[in-house]
Amino acid sequence: MRIDVITIFPEYLSALDVSLIGKARAQGLLDIRIHDLREHTTDRHKTVDDTPYGGGAGMVMKPEPWALALEAAVADSAEVELIIPSPAGAVFNQQMAYELAEKEHIAFACGRYEGIDERVYEWAAEHPRIRVRPVSLGDYVLNGGEVAVLAMVEAIGRLVPGVIGNPESLIEESHSNGLLEYPVYTKPANWRGKDVPEILLSGNHAKIASWRTSQQLRRTAQRRPDLLAAVDPETLDAQGQAE
Ligand code: ADE
Repeated sequence: MRIDVITIFPEYLSALDVSLIGKARAQGLLDIRIHDLREHTTDRHKTVDDTPYGGGAGMVMKPEPWALALEAAVADSAEVELIIPSPAGAVFNQQMAYELAEKEHIAFACGRYEGIDERVYEWAAEHPRIRVRPVSLGDYVLNGGEVAVLAMVEAIGRLVPGVIGNPESLIEESHSNGLLEYPVYTKPANWRGKDVPEILLSGNHAKIASWRTSQQLRRTAQRRPDLLAAVDPETLDAQGQAE
């Protein structure tokens, strides 16, 4: 899978050289290319921003370098999914990560300051090879898109086949069935007076599976009741039958 990231702070993305994503890059499973937006400016000062029309605080990113940078990033592909991190986008979630992990080529445009000139979104939406979507990490404001890209590339990249050594670990994690993950324990069985739940020592796999689903439901109801409405009824039914 190819991932292009355009930013004015390429060094921010150096974390993508580390750990599982770094390893996947070295193995060629993820072809991640980081580009400096300033290389697509045409003036001596490499200007990427200017004052907003209509007045107001802060600066707005100029459209010209963005179009040149994006044209270069999509030049070799028939279709590119362009994600523009923005607090004004749709909220990123696991479903989106699954969907994007299927794509051959995705690109991220990291805005800074007050954002990117709106005409870049319009231009990208009209471009025959680009499918554009503004995406937010959550309902809070970051200083720019770079940290959001780190989070999204990790969430998407780990779903690409081969990136995680043991693909089974993707099956029962939080959000994979719409619920939060069940609690996990390791040795010792008693630690500072606290026991591991006895059922986990029973060796009864059916009972353990059922206990884990009930823990998932309990935890989700307590911490994220908003998620319960969207859970597949089969998940809830299977639990009801097991009890
Ligand atoms: N840029 C600034 N805030 C952001 C957010 N919440 N999500 C994604 N990109 C952003």
